[in-house]
Amino acid sequence: MTSEPRRDCALCPRLAGFRAQNRETYPAYFNAPVPSFGTHDARLLIVGLAPGLHGANATGRPFTGDYAGDLLYRTLLRHGLAKGTYGRVASDGLELVDCAITNAVRCVPPENKPTPAEINTCRQFLTATISSMPHLRAILALGKIAHDSVLTALVARKKDHPFGHGTSYGIGRLLLVSSYHCSRYNTNTGKLTEEMFDDAVKEAKIAAMPQL
Ligand code: URA
Repeated sequence: MTSEPRRDCALCPRLAGFRAQNRETYPAYFNAPVPSFGTHDARLLIVGLAPGLHGANATGRPFTGDYAGDLLYRTLLRHGLAKGTYGRVASDGLELVDCAITNAVRCVPPENKPTPAEINTCRQFLTATISSMPHLRAILALGKIAHDSVLTALVARKKDHPFGHGTSYGIGRLLLVSSYHCSRYNTNTGKLTEEMFDDAVKEAKIAAMPQL
């Protein structure tokens, strides 16, 4: 996929510093901006928050290696949006089917919390990713940060498109479907059940591939 930051991207000084620190602490990890997964001809784009320290930041593939990825990839496999076996590593051979996965922020942030400035700075890559997908019909945003960043990327007003689980809005040629983030915290607290998440993925799939 195009539209990726350079491996040594220094646009966000705090994130670049955290990356340098992680290269020392975890030399075997990927420790770089995590590129999107999937191809630019997909009709569905899934947008997460940012790589997890011991998940995507370790493996180099979005959502790969942590709890959120277990739930996400299990759900995608169930809906035929992925094929193969998810093995928690980037070399598992898993393939996405007509969908791609990216993050609102490409580098792992300390405590999983990117600052508003980092979200704004990294949006150029999200915008470029969206623009590089000519067949894109639907975006599934995981969590409010992804939802809001997609809205800004699409030049749509947050006030007119409030975030909620299961919301969907037509914006130009795209449908934006949103879900609570599939994090362990959200499922442990009961904010998001596997069924709720399944429903959101199903809705996004129908929006992207209406004939299926
Ligand atoms: N891993 C990601 O790549 N993104 C998330 O939002 C969470 C985990």
